[in-house]
Amino acid sequence: MPASDVRTAVIPAAGLGTRFLPATKAVPKELLPVVDTPAIEYVVAEAAAAGLSEVLLITGRGKVAIVDHFDSNPPLEQVLEAKGDKARLAAIRRSNDLLQVHSVRQGEPKGLGHAVLQAKAHVDGHPFAVMLGDDLIDERDPLLRRMLEVQASHGGSVVALMEFPPSQISLYGCASLRGERDGDVVDIADLVEKPAAEEAPSNLGIVGRYVLSADIFEILERTPPGRGGEIQVTDAMAELAVRGEMRGVIFDGRRYDTGDRLGWLKATVLLACEREDLGPELRAWLRELTPRLPA
Ligand code: G1P
Repeated sequence: MPASDVRTAVIPAAGLGTRFLPATKAVPKELLPVVDTPAIEYVVAEAAAAGLSEVLLITGRGKVAIVDHFDSNPPLEQVLEAKGDKARLAAIRRSNDLLQVHSVRQGEPKGLGHAVLQAKAHVDGHPFAVMLGDDLIDERDPLLRRMLEVQASHGGSVVALMEFPPSQISLYGCASLRGERDGDVVDIADLVEKPAAEEAPSNLGIVGRYVLSADIFEILERTPPGRGGEIQVTDAMAELAVRGEMRGVIFDGRRYDTGDRLGWLKATVLLACEREDLGPELRAWLRELTPRLPA
């Protein structure tokens, strides 16, 4: 298995977070906690666990607090040190010890493809990962690591796919395939952003993990606005697919959609139930509560 030469995870974080208003009026949605850790820290931890060495955050107006979260905070460290609170000290140091974090601003919100394009100078011709903060992948199901393996052995670009019911496929980019699947790997013939259920070419939708060749930039530069009037990364990847340079890894592990209020609530409850410090009491309370819930 050749080693991966992917070093950088690009994390778009310039979105307005309107689905979480009013919570996101002044606080970036990426910092909303899942249990007690900002959603984006799970994504950066996933990049570190997959062996990447740096993160490039694509930020915008009002997002400075995200960059602060990945920096050290000496006054807070001094207070915790003086109290001898080692657990909390470790918890606040974790985010700045995970990976080197850089940021660049998007300026205008012209879509996900436009956000990815802001990484061009930074990744400088190398393949790179894109990780969407709304998709939280359970650390026990290492998707990105698997995608890096597939990219290292096949070259080209790789996107994560999951099977979705017809009622949900219009929320995702959707893939049509060339040939049969080889284990969890498929050859993608074409991609379409958020098709209507009756027009979807398959039940395979894109989840927010990509490993892209730097060829994507030249395509993004001439990709016109697509679905929603935005420059879509799916449209640029469709060109790579038509050229035969796009594979998919079909994921059947645990994924939580923390970009949606219900998904965020479910992720928070599930992950808290599994925690040693909170789990036992929360599980007992949920068992007691369940029979009393309104239908
Ligand atoms: C984006 C992509 C879409 C993908 C989805 C995964 O859409 O454009 O192709 O399926 O992320 O979460 P968004 O959810 O940002 O509208």
